[in-house]
Amino acid sequence: MNDIINAILKRRSIRAYTDKEISEDTMNTILKAAMYAPTARNSQEWRFIVVRNPENLQKIQQVQPYNTLLEQANAAVIVCALVESDAAKRYFQQDCGASIQNLMLAAYGLGVGSVWLGVYPNEQLVDGITKSFKLPKDVFPIGVVALGYPAEEKPDPERFDASKIHNEQWYQEKLI
Ligand SMILES: Cc1cc2nc3c(=O)[nH]c(=O)nc-3n(C[C@H](O)[C@H](O)[C@H](O)COP(=O)(O)O)c2cc1C
Repeated sequence: MNDIINAILKRRSIRAYTDKEISEDTMNTILKAAMYAPTARNSQEWRFIVVRNPENLQKIQQVQPYNTLLEQANAAVIVCALVESDAAKRYFQQDCGASIQNLMLAAYGLGVGSVWLGVYPNEQLVDGITKSFKLPKDVFPIGVVALGYPAEEKPDPERFDASKIHNEQWYQEKLI
């Protein structure tokens, strides 16, 4: 199978990790991929906070106590949006969502497991991350991606569902 299709179909959320460290080279390649996602008017408003220090990973977990997987994660990336331009104001959620997807697919391609932990638009989570990581005004945390070499395997789900596809328009005219 084509590599890109394979990565898209095989990537699964990984929530258990070994203690193998993610090298700086690998992290930079992952972040480079995140910066190659499409953005409205090419605004590239994403900003990334790389968190490796266990005390700081713990801070994320304090904001999101149900995400205990951060205890094991080797690193996390807080994907933020710098919302200044008009395009960024309108599209930052979509732009950063595309970036997160690129980041996770690149991680998968390099053998690194990942899971997306939602932040925006949950006000409590946005406030918690903003305070803990000293984000300036106009910068919003969109999501956290926990990263680590996988210590679990996930089965392939079957998700193709023809009933979710509409051809040409939503409703089909009834043929008499
Ligand atoms: C916006 C968003 C928020 C998510 N938040 C969490 C989360 O807080 N904790 C978690 O364990 N997984 C979280 N996930 C991961 C989803 O649970 C996961 O993607 C989904 O179950 C599909 O599984 P897959 O990623 O293996 O295909 C989130 C995913 C998205 C896109």
